[in-house]
Amino acid sequence: MSANTVEINRTRFRFDDNEAVWLFGYGSLIFKADFPFVQRRSARITGWSRRFWQGSHDHRGTPEAPGRVVTLIETPGEPCSGVAYLIAPEVFEQLDFREKNGYLRFSTEMTFDDGSLVQGLVYIATPENSAFLGPASESDIARHIAAAAGPSGPNADYLLHLAESLRGLGEHDAHVFEIEQHLRLVLK
Ligand code: SIN
Repeated sequence: MSANTVEINRTRFRFDDNEAVWLFGYGSLIFKADFPFVQRRSARITGWSRRFWQGSHDHRGTPEAPGRVVTLIETPGEPCSGVAYLIAPEVFEQLDFREKNGYLRFSTEMTFDDGSLVQGLVYIATPENSAFLGPASESDIARHIAAAAGPSGPNADYLLHLAESLRGLGEHDAHVFEIEQHLRLVLK
C-alpha cells in the first residue's frame, strides 16, 4: 500500500452532514490539537498497544531519513489510553492530510473515564503501509529518534511531548517511558 492514504481515507466513511464524530487520539493527536473540536475527553480503547513502529516521512523525518512515530498494534485485551475529540465531519479533510503518511481511519469503540462507551474513529498505520518500520529495542528506537527531524520539528520533541501528556493523563505506558529514559541519556 502506498504511504499516502488521503484518497483511500476519503472513500472509507460517509458522514451524515450534521453528525459530530468521536476521534480517538493516542499519539500527536493528544498533544497537538491544531484542529477545531467540540469536546475533548480522556478515553481508552481496548485490544491495542501504542508502539513507535511507524516511519514518519513528512512530520518528524524525511523520506530519506524517516523519523519514528506511534501507531497501534493489535494486542488482545490490552488497554491504550489517549484523548477523544468530538469533531465535525468536515474536519477529517484536514486530519486525513495530517495523517496521510500511512494512517487509515478505522472504526472503534472507546470508553470514557465514567465508563460510558461511544463508537468513533481512530487513525492506525498498519504493517502493510510502506512507511511501516516495525519493532526495534527501546534503546535503538531512542537513538533513532534522537537523530531524526522533519518539517514538524525534531523527532525527540514528539516523544517528549507524548510522554509528558501521558503523565498528565495519569497513564503509565512502559514502551513510551522506557524510550524516554534512553532518549534523555542520549540527548545529554
Ligand atoms: C494519533 O495521534 O492518534 C495518530 C498518530 C499521530 O498522529 O501521532
